[in-house]
Amino acid sequence: MSQASAVAYANIALVKYWGKRDSALNLPAAGSLSLTLNTLRTDTMVHFDESLTHDSFELDGRESDPRKLTTWLDLVRARAKLQTRAHVVSRNAFPTASGLASSASAYAALAVAASSAAGLSLTVRELSELARRGSGSAARSIFAGFALMHAGTKADGSDAVAEPIVGADDWDLRMVIAVVGGGKVKGVSSRDAMEHCAATSPLYQAWLDCVPNDVQAARSAIDARDLAALGAITRDSAMAMHAAAMASRPPVRYWQAATLRCLDRVEELVGSGIPAYPTMDAGPHVKVLTDAAHCQEVARAIGEIPEVTEVKICAPGPAAHLLSEASD
Ligand code: PMV
Repeated sequence: MSQASAVAYANIALVKYWGKRDSALNLPAAGSLSLTLNTLRTDTMVHFDESLTHDSFELDGRESDPRKLTTWLDLVRARAKLQTRAHVVSRNAFPTASGLASSASAYAALAVAASSAAGLSLTVRELSELARRGSGSAARSIFAGFALMHAGTKADGSDAVAEPIVGADDWDLRMVIAVVGGGKVKGVSSRDAMEHCAATSPLYQAWLDCVPNDVQAARSAIDARDLAALGAITRDSAMAMHAAAMASRPPVRYWQAATLRCLDRVEELVGSGIPAYPTMDAGPHVKVLTDAAHCQEVARAIGEIPEVTEVKICAPGPAAHLLSEASD
């Protein structure tokens, strides 16, 4: 019997990941670049318990279907040469499966907790690879601040991992998150939507073709601490990803009327000289990249939109880490 607890924080991609080169190993078709945030937190406890006959999974206080988790835990068990089933308890400090990137913090926290509970001592690169097997974006949440995800070229996926580029304390940006429509509003999962987009969207290849340049340009903007340049890439990458998704047949559209109202409001802010750059993931919420001096004003402006049910101001966040060491 061994147990460990870990915490991880969601990240928001500035250059998006949208499409896989291998869906069994969850290998991305292109790179991506993200910012880990400090408030979107997942706490996870993993307990390998000899008395269990199957894995159990409690998410936000409710028993949940453990099938997907079991498939992922089997990777940890195989590596640790363990048969033991696990009890997993996870809690998100934000709405689950709503396009607020809960799978990123979920699998990053799981990778840290489960590997430690299983007696494995993994490098951060190995943790990133393990987290990726649960969710592509989770590979990035292993790291603090800005992280770069590599598409990799190897068939076994060992080079499809993230690496940290600029730490959480090294550039004091803000991400203002407008939660649209409450919580559980997600339609198609990102996994299904990506697959459908790759198979049917005439814009999918054009989308993939933009990514390497966007990643390079974003890296240079981060190195130069140039918010206007990074913000423009952030906005444009999200729009290109959603354009490819919307061109799928039939379309995948995450946007709601309130999403557009948020985008309009961001444009008004930009018109009055405020640095504000929108991005969106597999949900209707709008996330706005800005700086510490303007985040309150951005939050106030998008908070006035009636369908915006919550506004969060996030700063760059820490790496995934253990809360308690494994114990017997
Ligand atoms: O990690 P997944 O499989 O949930 O996919 C994430 C997809 C986006 O959030 C839309 C983009 C990204 O890079 O995080």
